[in-house]
Formats: sequence, C-alpha cells, structure tokens
Amino acid sequence: LLEEMGVDAIDISAGAQAVGFPRATAAIVEPMGYQQGWKTYLAREVKKHVKIPVITVGVIREPDIAEGILARKEADFVALGRALLADPFWPMKAHRGESHLILRCVSCREACITGRAFNDRPISCAINPGVGDEDTPLPLVSKTKRVTVIGGGASGMKFALTARELGHQVDLYEQEKELGGQLNLACIPAKREKLRWVIEDFEALLRAQGVGIHLNEKISHDRLSKLAGDVLVIATGSNPFFPERIRGRSDIVDARQILRAGHFPAKGTIIVAGGGTVGCEVSMFAKGPENQVILIEQLETMAQDMEPLTRQLLLADLDDSGVVIKTGVKITEVKDHQVSVTSKDEAFEMDFDLLIVALGSESVCGPGTELERMFPEVYRVGDAAQPGKLMDAVHGARNLALQVLA
Ligand SMILES: Cc1cc2nc3c(=O)[nH]c(=O)nc-3n(C[C@H](O)[C@H](O)[C@H](O)COP(=O)(O)OP(=O)(O)OC[C@H]3O[C@@H](n4cnc5c(N)ncnc54)[C@H](O)[C@@H]3O)c2cc1C
Ligand SMILES: Cc1cc2nc3c(=O)[nH]c(=O)nc-3n(C[C@H](O)[C@H](O)[C@H](O)COP(=O)(O)O)c2cc1C
Ligand code: SF4
Repeated sequence: LLEEMGVDAIDISAGAQAVGFPRATAAIVEPMGYQQGWKTYLAREVKKHVKIPVITVGVIREPDIAEGILARKEADFVALGRALLADPFWPMKAHRGESHLILRCVSCREACITGRAFNDRPISCAINPGVGDEDTPLPLVSKTKRVTVIGGGASGMKFALTARELGHQVDLYEQEKELGGQLNLACIPAKREKLRWVIEDFEALLRAQGVGIHLNEKISHDRLSKLAGDVLVIATGSNPFFPERIRGRSDIVDARQILRAGHFPAKGTIIVAGGGTVGCEVSMFAKGPENQVILIEQLETMAQDMEPLTRQLLLADLDDSGVVIKTGVKITEVKDHQVSVTSKDEAFEMDFDLLIVALGSESVCGPGTELERMFPEVYRVGDAAQPGKLMDAVHGARNLALQVLA
C-alpha cells in the first residue's frame, strides 16, 4: 500500500510505547540484551513484498554486521542510530578499514534516552561525552605535560585518552593484568556483555594514540616515588563496602567476588543483602536449579540507580527466575548462618548457607597523600573521587582533563 502511494523507501523498526509492557517498549530503542541486527528479519520479510528500498535499523554496531546484512540482501540500506552518538566517525573509520577503532554503542540508554530525549534535554552518550562538540576541535596545548594515571578502569582510560588527544605525554598504570576495572565484572551477568566493548574499544584507542600502558603495575608508595611527572591522576576506583564486623567469614562474600569467580557452585539458601543494580544482577547470576536466592532490600524499590527500562526488564527477569525478593526489609544483625531482619510489621530470623553482600562501594584512596604531593598537580577521578556509574566515570574524566590540561 505504501509503495502504491508513492513512498520512496521503508525503514523497518518495531516496538510500541506500552506502559506496563517493557519488553514491547524495549524493541524501539533496545537496551543492552539485544543482539546486533536482531530486527533485520522484519526488513527481510518486507523486502520480499516491495520493490522500493527497504532500510533496516536496530543495534547495528560493527561494519562487518552491516556489510553482512547488505551482502545477504536482507535490506537495501542499514540505518545507524546510537552507533553515531557513541562514535560519529563510525562511517569514516569503516571506510578506512579502521573498524577496530570504532567506539561501539553499548545500548545502555543512559544518556541518549534516559532523562534526555524524553525530557526534552540535549542528548549525550554515556561513553562519548563529546556528543554535540564534534565540530569543536580540542584546544592546542602550549606546554606538553607528563601525565601519570593510576588505575586503568573507565575513568583512568578516558582521562588518559583525553590527555593524549590534547597532546600530552601519558602513562597509564594498572595493577591487574588487564584494563577495565569494574567493567570486567559488570559485563559478566547475562545481557550485560556489551559492557566489555567499552574496555576493548578504549584500549584500542589508547594504543592507537600512543598512551603508555603498563599492566601488572601496582603503584605503591615506593613505586610512585620513582615516577616523575607534572600531573598525577588517581583513578583507583572503588572497593565494595563490606562492614568490618562481618569480614573474614567463609559464609559471607561480596558480590564482586562472586562475579569474579565467573561461576556459582553454591547450593542451598543464598541471601543477597542489597537490592541495587549489583545486588539484582548477582542474584540472577547466583540463581540455579539447586539453590534458593533471597534478595533483601531495605527500601521499598530495587535497582533505583538503574536506567528505567533496563530496570523494568531486569525486574521482570528476576520474577521469572524465581529469585525471592523482599523489599522494605532491613538486616539488623548477622549471626552464624543466620540474619535477623525487621520489616515495618515484624521482626524475624532467616537462615542462609551463603550471604552475598552488595551494599555499595567506597573509594580506593590510592598510594598515599604525602607522595601524591610530589607531583605539582594531583587529581582524583571516577569512583576514586566518588563512587558512581560508568557515565559518571567517563564524563567526569573528560571534563577534568579538559579543565586541567587544555
Ligand atoms: C558488578 C558491577 C556492575 C555494574 N554495572 C553497572 C551498570 O550497569 N551501569 C553503570 O553505569 N555502571 C555499572 N557499574 C559501575 C561502573 O562499572 C563503575 O562506576 C566504573 O566502572 C568505575 O570506573 P573507575 O575507573 O572509576 O573505577 P574502577 O573500574 O574500579 O577502576 C579502578 C582501577 O584502578 C586499579 N587500581 C587500583 N589501585 C591501583 C594501584 N595502586 N595501582 C595500579 N592500579 C590500581 C584497579 O585495579 C582498577 O582497574 C557496575 C559495577 C559493578 C562492580
Ligand atoms: C534519541 C533517540 C530518539 C529516537 N526517537 C525515535 C522516534 O521518535 N520514533 C521511532 O520510531 N524511533 C525513535 N528512535 C529509535 C531509533 O530510530 C532506532 O530505531 C533505535 O535507536 C535502534 O537503532 P540503534 O540501535 O541504531 O540506535 C530514537 C532513538 C534515539 C536514540
Ligand atoms: S548513551 Fe548508551 S545507548 Fe546511548 S548512544 Fe551512548 S552508549 Fe549508546
């Protein structure tokens, strides 16, 4: 019908703004769990019935995926939405054969949709704070500084990258064998895998820009005293908050430890203390056929810190998984394999085989304030300054670098 009416081309999307049906809404601007090009089957079908060009859209992030769709004639054109927010140079890099230098949109919806497009505010991108500034070249610096960044998480990587783009000489030190910090754990739960792209893509850009990357280098007091430079950036991230009185017990672990292990062998009753993003995700991760997982949150709502649609989907998945959720319930005491809890109506005890703590994070101080003073300029960034989210780490790092190094 559209073809008969003279329409030139058809762009095939999907989904509906349907209150109470998050999975239908999700199909419009997909959150992280969707595969690249998943909506192309719709274009492929439409193409069988029309002669005008058919365009496909939705989570197309890599030139090879786009080329594959075109080569298989599943669509005549490929449309990129958020891919161009995360990296406006996507087409140019694809054309030049530099796909490995594309910063891939991770479908987090944090800065283009949430609180932005739907609130009539300018859109941005969680991993590319430069959205909208593409035509403004970075200022040329008059003096090249030697910049030392401690910590290769999102904030350290972004600070290092921006400093290098400004023309400074940059060295990045990471104590682990790989870059990424918490993102290495954040990308482990199902449907969060795309977060690994941030590590891979930032690392590729850092290497291409010539940032000195030093892995397996924990910067201690001694080591720092041997490093000279003009600017020191502490991007040492955060550790999980773990109350002192329950440390060192074999029946209590923190959520990051569980994710780091990569598998979950425990049987029996698992209590997860804390229903923020990490608590919800580790609950899903821990749930298996042979255990019961009970998630306890003292507030009435869970995962308040999460992007709203992603949160609705996660809560739906939690419901389906059989995780028992107790909101408005506060843990008042931890005994041997047992917690005492109160809700507004009652106080009771709950037994557990394993207690997983997911009670937020606290900043890692870094090598020591006295030695930090050996550098003329010392700054803190990301979780080391204030625990937050990926977007806080990345935006904070770029803003700081432009403020102090431009
Ligand atoms: C399980 C989990 C899920 C998450 N999910 C999300 C999410 O869905 N969305 C979101 O926005 N955010 C999420 N986050 C939070 C997000 O990952 C962090 O806010 C962000 O990655 C912080 O980056 P950072 O660089 O400040 O710190 P970190 O990632 O902690 O990096 C600090 C780095 O410094 C290194 N380091 C520390 N001390 C030294 C030293 N002395 N010498 C050398 N290196 C050192 C550490 O090894 C680490 O690699 C999640 C976090 C976790 C743990
Ligand atoms: C900021 C923003 C606004 C959008 N507005 C609309 C819209 O008004 N109507 C619509 O059908 N899709 C809209 N979309 C969806 C996109 O057109 C696209 O189909 C979707 O983002 C999936 O493609 P992508 O993964 O390449 O971004 C919007 C997406 C974004 C990021
Ligand atoms: S904010 Fe997230 S979803 Fe939006 S463009 Fe950036 S990476 Fe993609």
